[in-house]
Amino acid sequence: MKLMVIGGGGREHAIIKKLKENPAVTEIYALPGNGGIAADATCVDIGAKDIPAQVEFAKANGIDYAVVAPDDPLALGAVDALTSAGIPCFGPDAKAAVIESSKAFSKDLMKKYGIPTAAYATFTDAGSAEEYLDSCNAPIVVKADGLALGKGVIIAQTIEEAKGAVRSMMEDKVFGASGDKIVIEEFLTGPEVSVLSFTDGETLVPMVSSMDHKRSGDGDTGLNTGGMGTIAPNPYYTEEVAARCMEEIFLPTIRAMKAEGRPFKGCLYFGLMLTTEGPKVIEYNCRFGDPETQVVLPLLESDLLTVMRSTTNGTLAETEVKFSDGAACCVVLASKGYPTAYEKGFPITMTAEAAAHTYVAGAARKDGRLVTNGGRVLGVTATAATLPAAIQEAYRLAEGVTFENAYCRRDIGQKALAALEG
Ligand code: AMP
Ligand code: GLY
Repeated sequence: MKLMVIGGGGREHAIIKKLKENPAVTEIYALPGNGGIAADATCVDIGAKDIPAQVEFAKANGIDYAVVAPDDPLALGAVDALTSAGIPCFGPDAKAAVIESSKAFSKDLMKKYGIPTAAYATFTDAGSAEEYLDSCNAPIVVKADGLALGKGVIIAQTIEEAKGAVRSMMEDKVFGASGDKIVIEEFLTGPEVSVLSFTDGETLVPMVSSMDHKRSGDGDTGLNTGGMGTIAPNPYYTEEVAARCMEEIFLPTIRAMKAEGRPFKGCLYFGLMLTTEGPKVIEYNCRFGDPETQVVLPLLESDLLTVMRSTTNGTLAETEVKFSDGAACCVVLASKGYPTAYEKGFPITMTAEAAAHTYVAGAARKDGRLVTNGGRVLGVTATAATLPAAIQEAYRLAEGVTFENAYCRRDIGQKALAALEG
């Protein structure tokens, strides 16, 4: 079988490495992929948002199945276009992807169907938003409606700061059209859990839970990033919490999407906060998370391609989806200065052992060498029988990777370990 994976980050590298485990897979193309993915797939210079070129490439190259991994092409209708062209693919169509690409849509959906989430109000003009803020207490959360590279969420510590966020989104347009509409919501507290799930629109199968580490510095200090590391499973996500999430959140969400005429197929990501009142939805993503995928897929024991195709065909209920009982840890090595300014172009060296456990995100090939080409350069993932062992092994493997100006958080998984020791 010939496969095509759209995207070019660490998540896509993890998906490609897992898909390759199926012996029926003869060829994988990555559009556009990256310098590290090139070791595992044929990279094709077609951008993740260039849907017409993707369709043309798939038809010209006899692609049997496509995986659309990032949010942008999903929101822009890559799955719709490929499906119309006769290429079966993994991921939601544009109508269903709106669950991520419009926060106002997802908040209204949760309200209508009684799915627990933070109380909120939606605004399309700055004046009314500021007036509303006068009736609120800080801290308060201001969110741009549309996609904003994970940066469209401001946790304001004062009402003045919240008003500033409203003005920068709605008047200064720092997120472009994504800030034409905003959501103001209640600030929630509690441990955060990421749960990715497979769904064919009827059946939903949660994957092993995980925990992201979004801030750039140890002890959750510094700026928000795309994610500096992950662990799985998340110890806060007990069987009791899982059962409650299934009843109160996961099943109601897929039923709601179906009832709205937007059946969701693919990977639905639940960003949850475990509050004293119970689990609540912080956000939905219409795709695999990055870097959650880098710890979740290594623990998948079933064949990924079979499971993916069952979500497309509507046969997930009859398909085995099995995860190992072990644990995984991914430590991201970033360029010093990320998430703001950083230098690129430094050669990367890796031991063979480290390379075998690495998912490359921001690296290019130059004169036959792998060089840094992004903020998050790569993630090193280890799996082990227990979480402490996985964390120790991930940091040991990370020692085998060197490039100038590299930095990583030293405390990935420590919060989870503290919870385990409880
Ligand atoms: P997002 O970019 O949507 O993943 O949000 C980034 C982070 O902001 C989340 O992981 C949470 O830590 C935090 N966050 C978002 N919404 C809320 C909320 N209502 N209350 C508290 N924290 C929030
Ligand atoms: N790691 C969070 C995300 O993929 O949005």
